[in-house]
Amino acid sequence: MSDNSTTTVGKPISCKAMVARAAKQPLTQENITVGTPKAGEVRVKVIANALCHTDIYTLDGYDPEGLFPCILGHEAGCVVESVGEGVTSVAPGDHVIPCYTPQCCEWSCIFCQSPKTNLCPKIRSTQGKGVMPDGTSRFTDKDGKPIYHFMGCSTMSEYTVLAEISCAKINKKMALDRACLFGCGVSTGLGAVWNTCKVEVNSSVAVFGLGAVGLAVIQGAKMAGASRIIAVDVNPKKFVAAVALGATDTVDSSKLDKPVQQHIAGTLTEWGVDYSFDCTGNTEVMRAALECSHRGWGTSCVIGVAASGHEISTRPFQLVTGRVWKGSAFGGFKSRRDVPNLVQKSLDGDLPIEHFVTHEFDGVEKTNDAIEALHGGECLRAVVKY
Ligand SMILES: NC(=O)c1ccc[n+]([C@@H]2O[C@H](COP(=O)([O-])OP(=O)(O)OC[C@H]3O[C@@H](n4cnc5c(N)ncnc54)[C@H](O)[C@@H]3O)[C@@H](O)[C@H]2O)c1
Ligand SMILES: [Zn+2]
Ligand SMILES: [Zn+2]
Repeated sequence: MSDNSTTTVGKPISCKAMVARAAKQPLTQENITVGTPKAGEVRVKVIANALCHTDIYTLDGYDPEGLFPCILGHEAGCVVESVGEGVTSVAPGDHVIPCYTPQCCEWSCIFCQSPKTNLCPKIRSTQGKGVMPDGTSRFTDKDGKPIYHFMGCSTMSEYTVLAEISCAKINKKMALDRACLFGCGVSTGLGAVWNTCKVEVNSSVAVFGLGAVGLAVIQGAKMAGASRIIAVDVNPKKFVAAVALGATDTVDSSKLDKPVQQHIAGTLTEWGVDYSFDCTGNTEVMRAALECSHRGWGTSCVIGVAASGHEISTRPFQLVTGRVWKGSAFGGFKSRRDVPNLVQKSLDGDLPIEHFVTHEFDGVEKTNDAIEALHGGECLRAVVKY
């Protein structure tokens, strides 16, 4: 890094970042310039970043709206370096988790005011276009050309700029190389159970896909008191962690001689499970998850992000006979309000998350190695410390 935080305030910062120049290409290590935060913005030093499949999905070219060149990354732990005009909720030195689902908290925001959703649309249009709310980027490359932001976070850089409404301020006691996990996958799985489905004591649950998100669903379901937790994957190596977290049954769906929904609703249970969760992004799995949910009241929650153009289907009779199809984004958590509480719960020893970190790397330039680890199939979360 070229500068330290006491001398950088009010000036552009030059630092290292991993830039996604084009789809399907490795990230390139570059020296970039990070502009000063404008009104309502916060410039942060990124301390650690965990990889999520959404980064890879975009890098692999599956997101038709993916913009290049961009700086990916959205599961991070950061320290505030400086703030723009009008910023009051965070100050230099504060520890924050960037949240791709912001929370503006304004009285005029019907989404923030509703207890039914966390989907604040305040900066949605510019975030989707890879720019800050004023329509411009804070990143420039060595030739002075702009680089796009990603999901309002762009944490594969030693410094980044966030909207104030995307910053969840957390307890400084929590190590940032662990707190980062609450920026996406882990919070998503827990919240789908606690907020979106409100799983009750003694419920039966089926979880499809045992990556970090699916394992967080299992952990959340166990904490909610579920008595039966059926863990489904096509990779049996994932069952060890699932059982350790509370799964009572494991199913390798690739080895069955009938559709997995018939195995769960028919063999393992009589009528199906009270709650099921898709954590794969595969639309056939989403169908199976719905169809293995209980006649009369089963609820199935889509968490996985499907490849573009894919659609879900089932016979309408499945819904007529009482099944409910739901979806969850960031676990329904209102980001700035709820992420600090998750961190506190973890600090208090009530929400262990260490088991999600399977790989660790040092230096932002190791991000390509982390991506390779994530492709390996045994990785839950690869954390890169900067
Ligand atoms: N809704 C949200 O807010 C949100 C947030 C984060 C991640 N996601 C999405 O959640 C999904 C899971 O994320 P992750 O990081 O845990 O991914 P992951 O790739 O680590 O885990 C996916 C798991 O699914 C398994 N799998 C693949 N095909 C399967 C099949 N046919 N049947 C059963 N299991 C199968 C894989 O073996 C793997 O263990 C992704 O689609 C991701 O994009 C959504
Ligand atoms: Zn993510
Ligand atoms: Zn809002």
